Amino acid sequence: MTSQVKKVTVFLGTPRKGATYQAVQEFVANLNTYTEIDWEYVCLNDYNLNTGKCKGCKLCFNKGEEYCSFNDDRDLLLEIMNNSDGVVLATPNYSFQVTALMKNFIDRLSFVLHRPRFFGKALTVIVAQGVFGGSSIVKYLESVGGDWGFQVVKGCCLTAIEPRTVVEQEKITQEIKKAAARFYKGLMRPTLPAPSFFRLFKFRISRTMMMGIQDETYRDYRYYKEKGWDKSDYYYDVSLGFIKKLTGRFIDYLGNRMVAKRKTMTLVN
Ligand SMILES: Cc1cc2nc3c(=O)[nH]c(=O)nc-3n(C[C@H](O)[C@H](O)[C@H](O)COP(=O)(O)O)c2cc1C
Repeated sequence: MTSQVKKVTVFLGTPRKGATYQAVQEFVANLNTYTEIDWEYVCLNDYNLNTGKCKGCKLCFNKGEEYCSFNDDRDLLLEIMNNSDGVVLATPNYSFQVTALMKNFIDRLSFVLHRPRFFGKALTVIVAQGVFGGSSIVKYLESVGGDWGFQVVKGCCLTAIEPRTVVEQEKITQEIKKAAARFYKGLMRPTLPAPSFFRLFKFRISRTMMMGIQDETYRDYRYYKEKGWDKSDYYYDVSLGFIKKLTGRFIDYLGNRMVAKRKTMTLVN
């Protein structure tokens, strides 16, 4: 493998080789026509993630993920993600949501929402559904990916009703083709882009809240300081331009006012 070859990992939130798996295979075949990719499939069902057992102790948030009482495959999956240039989250629509497998995976990595890290890596989403509700799942997973730090590439929702007509199958094929083309562009992007106003807002407000903690025992507080985010314009070095710089300062002002006001209020406990 040369350093040019991108590594892409597909995280599959389905226990079976059905429509989601087929869509992923088609996506992979499409992407392979653009460039050589080092693929890895992670079938979440094959890993131990202590499904449904999170006690909500929040030690991962407050003290650090290493304090979690579960000794499962979480860190292994995190490492796989970290060693990838691109990630695909693929799940069927189960009752208007991701599957329990996928949701549990996201919950096990929830501390990454507090301490994002996957900057410069591309992420996209594939959702297979019977009839309805999959578009909001795509948006949900895109939002999670963005909050983990990924550069999110617009995903796709495929209506894969069974049995399928030729016309329905053709529509799926076309949507996957477009999704693969978009992802290829995202994967090959040479530089980190300037954030959208929404992402800038999220960073500046999160930073103000984290810095308001002022307590070295909190992992989030230390993480932000270690990364230099207490002083930076954004998560990574990027030129914001005049308008966004100004907007950033205004968000800081609003955030600081909010934190200061909260400090004057009486706490329930
Ligand atoms: C438990 C369960 C719940 C489902 N809920 C929905 C739903 O809310 N909306 C929908 O459009 N399809 C729903 N479906 C259909 C699946 O999303 C659809 O069949 C999908 O293609 C399955 O992907 P798979 O073949 O990879 O398992 C559901 C299927 C199951 C098994």
